[in-house]
Amino acid sequence: MGRRDLTGRRILLTGASSGIGRALAIELARRQSHLLLIARRAQALTELVDALPAMGAASAGCLIGDVTDAGLRERAVGKAHSMWEGLDLLVNCAGVSAHGRFADGSAETLRTVMETNFFSAVELTRLALPLLVASSDSVVVNIGSILGHRGVPHNNEYCGSKFALRGWSEAVRPELWNAGIDMLQVSPGTTETGLFDSLVAQTGSTPWNEQRGISPEQVARQVVRALERRKQQIYPNWRGRALVLVNRYCPGFVNRLMRRYG
Ligand SMILES: NC(=O)c1ccc[n+]([C@@H]2O[C@H](COP(=O)([O-])OP(=O)(O)OC[C@H]3O[C@@H](n4cnc5c(N)ncnc54)[C@H](OP(=O)(O)O)[C@@H]3O)[C@@H](O)[C@H]2O)c1
Repeated sequence: MGRRDLTGRRILLTGASSGIGRALAIELARRQSHLLLIARRAQALTELVDALPAMGAASAGCLIGDVTDAGLRERAVGKAHSMWEGLDLLVNCAGVSAHGRFADGSAETLRTVMETNFFSAVELTRLALPLLVASSDSVVVNIGSILGHRGVPHNNEYCGSKFALRGWSEAVRPELWNAGIDMLQVSPGTTETGLFDSLVAQTGSTPWNEQRGISPEQVARQVVRALERRKQQIYPNWRGRALVLVNRYCPGFVNRLMRRYG
């Protein structure tokens, strides 16, 4: 198959009110796609939706709500069906994090992070399957993380959720492929967004808090390029990619390094 043309594609994107999701909405609007965006912050989302047609979007709409709400997920897929009678791209981008040691954490924090980062993405994909199957060239994009490849201390809930998302993606990828649905797994490293300012819980801070990241616009450009080139896995940040490689070949070394921060 040749290069994928995103013009006129019907796209459902979660977590679009800020950061990577917002940058992705703008990048996809420039490709003249149809966009249906989801997030909880009404003002940020509606302002973006109003601005997208001038940036090139074929159309833009939104649904304000919480992706952990099963009703919201059903309404989102229902809206895609009634507006477009199909869906070409589902982008699971909504995500939250928490900082602190496992011993200081709570079951509630773990549940919130898992519900947002893992269960919502999985269940939204399940609901969207009939629409994706009906498309001639559909893709599920999962915004994972480098921390879904290598766990780090003070971030256990987040690492657990991103490992789960990657494991699930790997398991269903061949099933989706055989149903005509492609999958792109995105594993960004540190990206300069509001993720660290809106933590679900903070009982400590990660030792690499001050590490400089790449911009969400850089991540978004790489995601769109990967979609056009039909890639199935990308690591937008070279530092993150380096960590995955060192961990693959020298896991003992990385384990010893991590002990310093435990
Ligand atoms: N920043 C990084 O260093 C980094 C690195 C690797 C991966 N990632 C991943 O990138 C994705 C986007 O995060 P970001 O860095 O761009 O942070 P961000 O600016 O905080 O964006 C998170 C987005 O998710 C939405 N969201 C969170 N909980 C939600 C919920 N329950 N229901 C609906 N929407 C929800 C937020 O919108 P509302 O608050 O308006 O609901 C926001 O639009 C996440 O999956 C994150 O794990 C980030």
